[in-house]
Amino acid sequence: MAQNGRLGGKVVLVTGGGSGIGRATALRCAEDGASIVVVDQNSSGADVAKELTELGAMATSQIRDISNSDDVQAMVGEALESFGHLDILVNNAGVGGSGQRLHELSIEEWDRTIAVNLRGQFLCAKFIIPLFLQSGGGAIVNVASTYGITGAPRSPEYCASKGGVVALTRQLAVDYGSDGIRINAVCPGYINTDMGGRRAALGPAGAAAANAAREAHAALQPLGRQADAREVANVIAFLASEESSFMTGSIVTVDGGCTATFNHGLPE
Ligand SMILES: NC(=O)c1ccc[n+]([C@@H]2O[C@H](COP(=O)([O-])OP(=O)(O)OC[C@H]3O[C@@H](n4cnc5c(N)ncnc54)[C@H](O)[C@@H]3O)[C@@H](O)[C@H]2O)c1
Repeated sequence: MAQNGRLGGKVVLVTGGGSGIGRATALRCAEDGASIVVVDQNSSGADVAKELTELGAMATSQIRDISNSDDVQAMVGEALESFGHLDILVNNAGVGGSGQRLHELSIEEWDRTIAVNLRGQFLCAKFIIPLFLQSGGGAIVNVASTYGITGAPRSPEYCASKGGVVALTRQLAVDYGSDGIRINAVCPGYINTDMGGRRAALGPAGAAAANAAREAHAALQPLGRQADAREVANVIAFLASEESSFMTGSIVTVDGGCTATFNHGLPE
């Protein structure tokens, strides 16, 4: 791990860091020299923190629900106790859509998706920005989605939550630019993760079929494949670092060109 890398001396808090894009981001930022706080709703974050420390990085983990304000405040307090400062927030934790049209969707399903994907990012920013104001700056990278830019079938609550993240990213950039706080978002397209553990729940044959269906949709798009989570993590680490010093309020697609075409594909 490069202590003198582009994130050397920085402390990065990654929500949803126990798997997928969050885990890849934790690893990438640690390679760039950062100390990492891995936050997840389950013990997967501890596994990632262990992996990081075995690689020579400084890392801690916390089990927190980012949709719960008490949890988020406790998360910030514990991160400060661990490292004394916090420099970068990666607002990554999220849940997928239910695959239903709006009239079929329960109010509870709508509320839960908005609570995690949008309220969760709001809460983490709300309780971390005061630290950035005190220390004279910081960076936030919000993980949105291509579904926050375009409409997509059977995902009203997911599209609305990610569209909210896109709008919030721009709005926060306006309010906090003069405080030295940069806020950007990435919009991943089809990334080869087991989002929400859906594939695991299908068993090996079902998971293989679901992945094949996703690959078929991804094949319609310019780069013709799903991405590895690390390909998103690389962009997140760039936006977290000073290499992106003149970027704020940017909505960066990492989607193999899918939003450049009409062939957006279908959800799983
Ligand atoms: N995989 C994709 O194709 C894709 C595409 C676009 C956007 N995204 C976004 O990327 C982000 C990461 O998704 P992923 O594909 O890595 O999925 P994932 O399911 O592998 O990772 C999400 C992580 O967030 C955690 N999490 C969920 N709810 C939480 C909560 N309330 N509090 C704390 N942690 C919570 C989960 O336990 C999990 O570890 C999400 O915001 C997702 O919407 C993913």
